[in-house]
Amino acid sequence: MPLTINGTDHDFTGDPRTTLLDFLRDGCGLTGTKKGCDHGQCGACTVLVNGQRINSCLTLAVMHEGDAVTTIEGFGTPEELHPLQEAFVRHDGFQCGYCTPGQICSAKAMLDEAANGWASFVSDDITAPVSLTRDEIRERMSGNLCRCGAYSNIVDAIAEVVE
Ligand code: FES
Repeated sequence: MPLTINGTDHDFTGDPRTTLLDFLRDGCGLTGTKKGCDHGQCGACTVLVNGQRINSCLTLAVMHEGDAVTTIEGFGTPEELHPLQEAFVRHDGFQCGYCTPGQICSAKAMLDEAANGWASFVSDDITAPVSLTRDEIRERMSGNLCRCGAYSNIVDAIAEVVE
């Protein structure tokens, strides 16, 4: 059974020890998802699996047959950015940008979770009103590290989308 990645089916036929992260980057050419620590510590590799955020370095591609995976390439288009992408640009929510794809995937899942009372949730976009304080955003985004220290602007960007 194929994985669906950003709406397109991909058959996984490689080494069963291949992580989802390596399959996305090396098998599918989706290099927006970044490898930082490769040990579940930094969040750079965050993607959505069936709407929930996951560190793709900590899971095997073969375990996700039949799942719907969304990477940063699945957000918006160059002509029409996703509201979170627009907000990150507007607030300079990055410096080097290496952590940004994971930050945005994580923020999307967080907002969907918040919109559904913190239950797992899958949506095409943010539709329900969400109430999150800056401290709650910081806490719930704490799995995504930014070595440049752009945290304040990242929180500003997410807070704008919450409003
Ligand atoms: Fe997966 Fe750091 S590369 S958490």
